[in-house]
Amino acid sequence: MSLTANWSYPTAIRFGAGRINEIGEACAAAGMKRPLLVTDKGLARLDITKKVLSLMESAGLGSAMFSEVDPNPSDINLTAGVEVFKAGNHDGVILFGGGSAIDLGKMIAFVADQTRPVWDFEDIGDWWTRADADAIHPIVAVPTTAGTGSEVGRASVLTNTESHVKKIIFHPKILPSVVICDPELTMGMPPVITAGTGMDAFIHCLEAYSSPFYHPMSQGIALEGMRLAYENLPKVMADGTDIEARSHMMSAAAMGATAFQKGLGAVHAMAHPVGALYNTPHGMTNAIILPAVLRFNRPAIEERIAAAAAYLGIDGGFDGFF
Ligand SMILES: NC(=O)c1ccc[n+]([C@@H]2O[C@H](COP(=O)([O-])OP(=O)(O)OC[C@H]3O[C@@H](n4cnc5c(N)ncnc54)[C@H](O)[C@@H]3O)[C@@H](O)[C@H]2O)c1
Ligand SMILES: [Fe+2]
Repeated sequence: MSLTANWSYPTAIRFGAGRINEIGEACAAAGMKRPLLVTDKGLARLDITKKVLSLMESAGLGSAMFSEVDPNPSDINLTAGVEVFKAGNHDGVILFGGGSAIDLGKMIAFVADQTRPVWDFEDIGDWWTRADADAIHPIVAVPTTAGTGSEVGRASVLTNTESHVKKIIFHPKILPSVVICDPELTMGMPPVITAGTGMDAFIHCLEAYSSPFYHPMSQGIALEGMRLAYENLPKVMADGTDIEARSHMMSAAAMGATAFQKGLGAVHAMAHPVGALYNTPHGMTNAIILPAVLRFNRPAIEERIAAAAAYLGIDGGFDGFF
């Protein structure tokens, strides 16, 4: 089976190994000529990043990069990024990295030309309508981890360094207009990052699936996303160059973020404050909290989890799944 495809749901996605070569076309489709590539300090040193910068250069897009992005990115990173974006007279942002670079890059594109502070757009009620939507710059996203799925999401998680609280900032227009999902980019992820980010993808699906809200579309996506992660995370841990398994993990990540508009749960509710206070890796934090939450929620989700276990081919219902 060929694991290459073009999807238009939930946004335009160019999926397949090697498709980073289409970065020039992706930027043209998004309507940008002078993009700023946003990544993190670790990635800035890697060959995959040098490659994308040279692809940008060849496509006549320049090779401007901002990489002062911390894991669990903060308002300090955002202020620095907006300065670079404005100084370079950029007209769009390429997000290149894991959830941290993707979320921070989205925020640069969002708030660079807003008159209100970023915290005014927290995901509360209709606060997003306070924003000037026309002032949001175009976004192309290229994930290099298979976890957060932030590349297909309409929100960013940003740490407030004064209150030490992780806030969710939302606007429908920060859903990237073009995404390149190239699983080859994830092949060099060290095992500890592969494991944590992969568990994040699995837990997005699991929490969305377990949420009591009515959203059958998300329910289906969450269930199949769980299956892909359950079957393929052990494979990528055993062999990081297994491109088929890496591809399925990249799909599972995008599916988790698509599904969790149905809701997340107590795992994320606790991982956010822990991450904000102790700067722990997000996916690993989720994974450690998960067993306690499953136990606590058992009376509410037992039947549903038994159905998921059957679909995943796990014997023993809830206990087998646990
Ligand atoms: N917006 C959302 O919907 C959403 C959902 C879940 C989590 N998040 C947020 O995303 C952030 C976590 O993102 P993450 O788990 O992807 O981790 P990350 O972006 O912090 O990356 C973790 C580490 O992996 C390295 N890395 C990334 N890709 C690599 C590659 N291909 N090869 C080698 N190293 C690589 C990075 O340099 C970094 O050191 C947190 O801030 C979390 O709150 C956002
Ligand atoms: Fe998450």
